[in-house]
Amino acid sequence: MLIVVAGLYLQYLYKSYGAKHDNWLSRIFLLIETKQLLAKLLVSKGMFETASDDTGEYVKYFPTVSIKFNYSTGQLYIKEPIDGEKYMDNFANGDFNKWVETVLLADKQTTEFKKGEMITVFAFDPIKFRLRLADLKPVEGTLNVMKGIDWKYDKFYNMLIAGNVGTGKSYTLFSILGQLLQVTKFITVFDPKRSDLASLKYTKALEGKVFSTNLEINEQVHVFHEEMMLRAEKMEKIKAKGQIGAYMDFNFTPHFLFFDEFGAWVEMNDKAAFGSETRKSYDVAMSDMKEIAMLGRELGFYIIVGMQRPSADSLPMAIRNQLNFKMVMGMPTPEVSKMLFPDSDKTLRPLSQDLKGWGFVQSGSSQVRSFFAPEIPKGFNLHDWIEYMADSREAS
Ligand SMILES: Nc1ncnc2c1ncn2[C@@H]1O[C@H](COP(=O)(O)OP(=O)(O)OP(=O)(O)O)[C@@H](O)[C@H]1O
Ligand SMILES: [Mg+2]
Repeated sequence: MLIVVAGLYLQYLYKSYGAKHDNWLSRIFLLIETKQLLAKLLVSKGMFETASDDTGEYVKYFPTVSIKFNYSTGQLYIKEPIDGEKYMDNFANGDFNKWVETVLLADKQTTEFKKGEMITVFAFDPIKFRLRLADLKPVEGTLNVMKGIDWKYDKFYNMLIAGNVGTGKSYTLFSILGQLLQVTKFITVFDPKRSDLASLKYTKALEGKVFSTNLEINEQVHVFHEEMMLRAEKMEKIKAKGQIGAYMDFNFTPHFLFFDEFGAWVEMNDKAAFGSETRKSYDVAMSDMKEIAMLGRELGFYIIVGMQRPSADSLPMAIRNQLNFKMVMGMPTPEVSKMLFPDSDKTLRPLSQDLKGWGFVQSGSSQVRSFFAPEIPKGFNLHDWIEYMADSREAS
């Protein structure tokens, strides 16, 4: 009886306790479980060798894989052998790491080769990488998304954020917008669906910079474009004297065009009759958008596009191809995943059933990673926060 109870208790500890707690005991279970999973993986993939002698069959070679957790950062270090044995290639070519990602629901971060071994770092607990609003420390050129993932807009210019209804696009955009206000005052916001972003026209920080009617938006795209062309001229004059560099080298500040619900804007205008005023102003605005997407990065004119489904009919390829920092909130369909991450073969898995505000992100052509967007606390007031972020720019 006692043994049965003790057995059940152990089973509970092993199965549920480790997953729900974070203390020394749960960590021991996590370690045991992870080691078992990896051993099982090596065996099932047949990455070992046997031999036999008079006494029977025995294991002649089993790869030495060792692991180490860093619980505070949520990272797992795996040391894999590059030892000249038969299965070395499975480690060296990244296959084993890919299996580990699937088995442990982890994200590969970096791999470092050393003599005789390679060390790969995985993020095993994405929520540990989540930032709170108070943790956001934007500086010129770098905005925070998650611990270890920044949007370096000068390098990975232009942002796309996609995702189904209610997955956290707008919330993620709030955290980006707030940070931008700490960096620059040159921000234009479009919200054709008139949701929360549109209300920002009533803040001091963004007064006169937020637009939601169709005509306003078409007109303001053009204004943004004109400003960009003006800078192009100024830069050409500087460069004519032999100076080289990008916009920041000449002390120009970046401008950002924030476009939530881009698809809604396209849809609204696509319906307008050819030859009508609306249609004409839209056609100009769309061709301006394409030019901004293409030329803006050299000049420091960036765009941030939020939409549900970035298909070619709602987001022209000429624009999509210029969006270098891509995020999708929630679990994308295979089709959406192909649109966003055409070159990635990573298997995406949902991060949470109950929490919102998670998704997948790719900066340039690096690994696709799962992430939690900065946590917006209960009782959060968007306007107060926006004013606070803008004020802290002015104060500095
Ligand atoms: N980062 C976050 N922190 C806390 N809660 C979040 C976060 N992101 C999303 N949520 C929760 O999910 C809800 C939906 O988020 P949000 O409005 O950003 O979705 P959306 O993708 O913009 O949806 P829609 O397509 O309807 O515009 C929010 O009301 C909030 O409760
Ligand atoms: Mg939204």
